[in-house]
Amino acid sequence: LSSGDADVVRSAWDKVKHSEVDILAAVFSAHPDIQAKFPAFVGKDLDSIKGSAAFALHATRIVSFVSEVLALAGNSATVPAIKTLVNQLGQNHKNRGVTKDQFNEFRASLTSYVSGHAPWGDNVAAAWNHALDNVYEIIFSNL
Ligand code: HEM
Repeated sequence: LSSGDADVVRSAWDKVKHSEVDILAAVFSAHPDIQAKFPAFVGKDLDSIKGSAAFALHATRIVSFVSEVLALAGNSATVPAIKTLVNQLGQNHKNRGVTKDQFNEFRASLTSYVSGHAPWGDNVAAAWNHALDNVYEIIFSNL
């Protein structure tokens, strides 16, 4: 990812990164099969778990991971560090039985959330998709 594209993605992400709970709730609401993979949340009503500490903790973990990778993006010197982090994520999720389809569902919900809550245009969409294509290529090589 070019440093310019990384800046564009970071600035969009900055607008939503404090809405962790809302983001995870949007993902679960659109894709109950993803919620069902979480031992703490399987079979529970989304409205009843959304306000819980456990939900906030999981939401923060996911959002923090994205922030961590984005902090490294746009710099060729940090590409190996990104690959290490994202390969680990791929392996952890493979071990939990998460599928490519579910990752694609997650991507669709996340993209929909960010594009609805940050200034969005063709350049932002292109940079965002480029960043996610890169990350998903690494994740999918592990699944
Ligand atoms: C745990 C991030 C997609 C299911 C985690 C954790 C992070 C994370 C940081 C906590 C650390 C760990 O245990 O690995 C992400 C990111 C995703 C993603 C960045 C997309 C790019 C998904 C999808 C599913 C999923 C699509 C399910 C269909 C889980 C489960 C856990 C988990 C079940 C364990 C929760 C627990 O500890 O009980 N994820 N995840 N994740 N993720 Fe994901």
